[in-house]
Amino acid sequence: MGVVIAIDGPAAAGKGTLSRQIAETYGFHHLDTGLTYRATAKALLDAGLPLDDEAVAEKMAREVELAGLDRDILSAHAIGEAASKIAVMPKVRRALVEAQQAFSEKAPGTVLDGRDIGTVVCPDATVKLYVTASADVRAKRRYDEIIAKGGEASYDDIFADVKKRDERDMGRADSPLKPADDAHLLDTSKMGIEAAFQAAKSFIDVALTKN
Ligand code: DC
Repeated sequence: MGVVIAIDGPAAAGKGTLSRQIAETYGFHHLDTGLTYRATAKALLDAGLPLDDEAVAEKMAREVELAGLDRDILSAHAIGEAASKIAVMPKVRRALVEAQQAFSEKAPGTVLDGRDIGTVVCPDATVKLYVTASADVRAKRRYDEIIAKGGEASYDDIFADVKKRDERDMGRADSPLKPADDAHLLDTSKMGIEAAFQAAKSFIDVALTKN
């Protein structure tokens, strides 16, 4: 197995930015696994198919192409909602996990971020990070992001949404969001992105020396 960096954590904790920076720094391939759930959900919505039929959703999941997944196209709130509904289905998860595992083998190394990378997708990852922040800090970041892009948002709605998403991600029976036993915890509540990156980099550099 090549080098695999597994990054898990709840929505809006800063995983995406951190994962991209790490992949760029080390010259590794990056997969945002949330996009695989989102792409499956969007395909179902676009085709007018139900979100509660596991066999149909599994078929869509098996057709998702990992190359060219784009968060801008998949960022709509309705897609995120639909994604978190189909993410509870074991057959959908199995299909996407297989594709994610195949991706993780790319040379010279990979960075995968999501909810179950260190626990299920890549349990033997070289380094595991669990990136988190308090729900209000995450809601505030998402709110600021929308306002900065010229959008409109209500902080209270976003906060309620963050809490609901957490409950769904942490409460599901199949592969719930939780830190792997051997994950390094990174709480970004009071840390800027540069400090979080430096902390992550030191964990990775130590692991790569031992690898
Ligand atoms: O990170 P995100 O908001 O793009 O993820 C979309 C949904 O997919 C979210 O509800 C959690 C789910 N997901 C998952 O169950 N497992 C992953 N590895 C990644 C995302």
